[in-house]
Amino acid sequence: MALTPNAPFQLENLSEDMDILNKALRESLLGIPDALAGRSERRILNLACGRADETGVLADIFGGEQRLEIVGADIRDAEIEEARLRWKTLRHSDIHTRFHVEDGKRFLDAMSSNERFDLTFMRHQNFWNNPRLWAHMFEGGLRQLDEDGLFVITSYFDVEHELACRKLVALGAVKVADHRNLESRALADAPGKSVDRHIAVFRKLPSGTPRRP
Ligand SMILES: C[S@@+](CC[C@H](N)C(=O)[O-])C[C@H]1O[C@@H](n2cnc3c(N)ncnc32)[C@H](O)[C@@H]1O
Repeated sequence: MALTPNAPFQLENLSEDMDILNKALRESLLGIPDALAGRSERRILNLACGRADETGVLADIFGGEQRLEIVGADIRDAEIEEARLRWKTLRHSDIHTRFHVEDGKRFLDAMSSNERFDLTFMRHQNFWNNPRLWAHMFEGGLRQLDEDGLFVITSYFDVEHELACRKLVALGAVKVADHRNLESRALADAPGKSVDRHIAVFRKLPSGTPRRP
């Protein structure tokens, strides 16, 4: 489903980063059966989304053909304001976006358990920096995920990716793909880090399955 931004990206490299992310995400999903195929309505939860630059990419890859809702949340208000301006959708359009300025923990704690998403997405997750907070967001994102939905993270560097993957598995997620994005743009001021360097895709354990110790 195509979603065109209302305002162009200001930062150098962003359009190119989005093209690379689009390609890498598609590669990550190769071999994963499209559990969402045939659904008339899809819902995406984008946690700690910042400016949510990837909104168009998510709509393109996961949007399906009929109705799509993308819900983003981040604690920084300037970033969310930019996301709202860039990705605002028309009232009666088939794509609907909403972005919340909210602490991720509070946002998820307040969410009804009936609210379900087909995809939970966390680009450049930051688990290593605050494991307690991010574990809470991982847990909430998994809880709100539909039984056959996908949980997708991207990471800037190897160790943080490994730590986040381990935590998600400990929380009951099953890793179904792990992709090293070889086209990811290196960050000149941060050796070993690059944009969307890793992408991992998880599913939920079917309910009733015991978690790994
Ligand atoms: C590494 S940035 C990634 C931002 C965005 N997903 C991206 O890839 O451009 C981590 C994000 O986590 C957000 N964040 C940090 N603490 C948070 C919290 N308690 N609740 C929600 N978001 C939080 C930050 O504001 C920041 O946007």
